[in-house]
Amino acid sequence: MSEIALRSAREIFFGPGVRTQLGKHAAPMGKHALIACGRTALQASGALDELRGSLEAAGVGVSVFAEVEAEPSLATVERGRVALRESGCDLVVAAGGGSALDVGKAIAGLANDPDPVTLASVAGGVGLPCIALPTTSGTGAEVTPNSVLTDTQTGEKASIRGHALLPEIALVDPELTLSCPADQTTWSGLDALTQAIEASVSTGANPVSAPMAEEAGRRIAGSLRHAVQDGSNLQAREDMALGSLLAGLALASARLGLVHGLAHPLGSLYHLPHGRVCGALLPWVIDFNLSHAEAKYAYLARGMDLGRDEDDLVNWIDDLADDLDAEIDFAEAGLKREDFDRIIPPTLASGSTKHNPRPVDEADLRELLGRLIG
Ligand SMILES: [Fe+2]
Repeated sequence: MSEIALRSAREIFFGPGVRTQLGKHAAPMGKHALIACGRTALQASGALDELRGSLEAAGVGVSVFAEVEAEPSLATVERGRVALRESGCDLVVAAGGGSALDVGKAIAGLANDPDPVTLASVAGGVGLPCIALPTTSGTGAEVTPNSVLTDTQTGEKASIRGHALLPEIALVDPELTLSCPADQTTWSGLDALTQAIEASVSTGANPVSAPMAEEAGRRIAGSLRHAVQDGSNLQAREDMALGSLLAGLALASARLGLVHGLAHPLGSLYHLPHGRVCGALLPWVIDFNLSHAEAKYAYLARGMDLGRDEDDLVNWIDDLADDLDAEIDFAEAGLKREDFDRIIPPTLASGSTKHNPRPVDEADLRELLGRLIG
């Protein structure tokens, strides 16, 4: 058996209401917390006031950095680091969707790094503690050692990695996802689904990660439609939140695959939401991988209660994309042959691509991208 590496937040608490424990967990870690969040959603749902109240009741001071945008930039992390220093915070609370978690983790993990943040930064030192509270069921970033950021100077989007990006505590409260709108529920759910499937079949899959990835896939398959159709369905929200958490734990050990290798350059070039790109690419990449992973996909189809073989998995994904109106016409989105040379090098360099079950070379990518635009 090859080496197995396991990574996660130091402690994980899951369940309706665990957000109310924020102050209790934060108080031993710091005196003043910087809450990193998006510009509006956390305030509009009332969650920001609730989290602030929990911290203050436990004697922890609060500053708020509500500047995280979708597909966040390096510059946002830099502004967050300045806000951290100027307010004298010694703890970060990252609350929101995957973007807010990625930025909060990077602010905390690189808090003591004297250099500017770049896509080549490695969070290998000692940062500040971070508590992560996801409000979408998608990236699993509450338990992963990476932050996906964009360099707006070059348009390049990539993961920075390092153990200092692992939160001290993940508080995964499905009630925080009840206010997530249907489109974000769809895109983040497709990301979680893709992560569960890619972690299941990756070359890094192992006896610890595989059961988590399979259970993630089963929970997401059974609940994604329900969560989109009725956002107030707490059972569906719980299954989605647990599914995305399990997928995050699985990918932190097993890594991902070609969908994620392609999703970053395609997403940043054509300004497409990450989960939407993942969901749209998934059937194409499964088809590409079948010659090397047919039995793994068939096993996964049975584990996810979708049928007997790989065709059942692919048909289910096609039906899901149809129901959720999640397909992308890549030509209409802007993909053209002249762009292939901007997409192929970062895809080949991606750690996700390197863990794809079928080895990938430049000719493969040219053919696959050509098929995407017919
Ligand atoms: Fe993802």
